[in-house]
Amino acid sequence: MEDNFLYEGKAKKILTTEDPMVVRMVFKDDATAFDGKKKGKIGDKGQVNARISSRIFRYLQQKGIDNHFIEQSEPGEIIARRLEIIPVEVVVRNLATGSISRRLGLKEGLPFNPPILEFYFKDDQLGDPMINEDHIQVLGWASREEIEKMRESAHRVNGLLLELFRGIGIQLVDFKLEFGRAGEELLLGDEISPDTCRLWDLKTGEKLDKDRFRQDLGNTEAAYQEILRRIEELEE
Ligand code: TMP
Ligand code: ASP
Repeated sequence: MEDNFLYEGKAKKILTTEDPMVVRMVFKDDATAFDGKKKGKIGDKGQVNARISSRIFRYLQQKGIDNHFIEQSEPGEIIARRLEIIPVEVVVRNLATGSISRRLGLKEGLPFNPPILEFYFKDDQLGDPMINEDHIQVLGWASREEIEKMRESAHRVNGLLLELFRGIGIQLVDFKLEFGRAGEELLLGDEISPDTCRLWDLKTGEKLDKDRFRQDLGNTEAAYQEILRRIEELEE
C-alpha cells in the first residue's frame, strides 16, 4: 500500500499530498452497482469521470456553489480540498426511475414538480438505507443547520445542472451528492458523473449513464464518452 494512502472506495482512491488539507482523488475504471454486488469495469471510466466531474465542479463554482475541487492534475485525477465526509447521500429526483419507481410503483419518467429530495445512509453493508432528517440529527451525522444547508445546496445544484445538461441535449433525471466539512465550511464533495447521475438523451430518451451497466444495456463506455464529448464542447 502506498504510504500516501488515505482511503479506497468502490470508484476512487484518495491519497494525501504534501498539504494536509489537500488530497488527490484517483478515479478507477471499476464499476459496481447494487451496493457492490454487481462488479465490472467500464473502459477509461476513471479518466472520463474525472474530466466530467472537473468540468461540472468548475461550472458550479462559477455559479457560486462552494465545492472541494481545486484542479485536475493528471488524467484520471483531481486535486481537492480534504473533507470529513458526512455519511449521508443526498439524492434529488426530477423524474421517476430506479429505486423510487420500484418502491412506490411509479411509472418510469413520471415528472416530479417540485423535485423530490431524499437522504440515504452511506453504508454498503446495510444497502444504503433511506433515512430522514431526524435519523441524521439524532444519530449525530449532521446538525439541523448542516442538513438545511445540504438541502438548499442540493436544490440549487439541481437547478444549475438541469440547465447545464439541457444545453447539451440531456435530461437530468436524478443524481446523488455528498457533502463534507473542511474546518468550519460545509462543501460539496465526491464526484458528479454518469456514475452518480441519470442522464437521458432529450431527443431519443437513450440512457447515457451507469444504468447501461446496471441493466446490461451494452455500450456503456460509448455513453460515458458521449457525455464527456458534449460537456467539453461547452464554453468555460
Ligand atoms: P436510486 O434510484 O438507485 O436510488 O438512485 C438515485 C440516484 O442516485 C441515481 O442517479 C444513482 C445515484 N446513486 C449513487 O450515485 N450512489 C448510490 O449509492 C445510490 C443508491 C444512488
Ligand atoms: N453506487 C452504488 C453501489 O455500487 C449504487 C449503484 O450505483 O447501483 O452500490
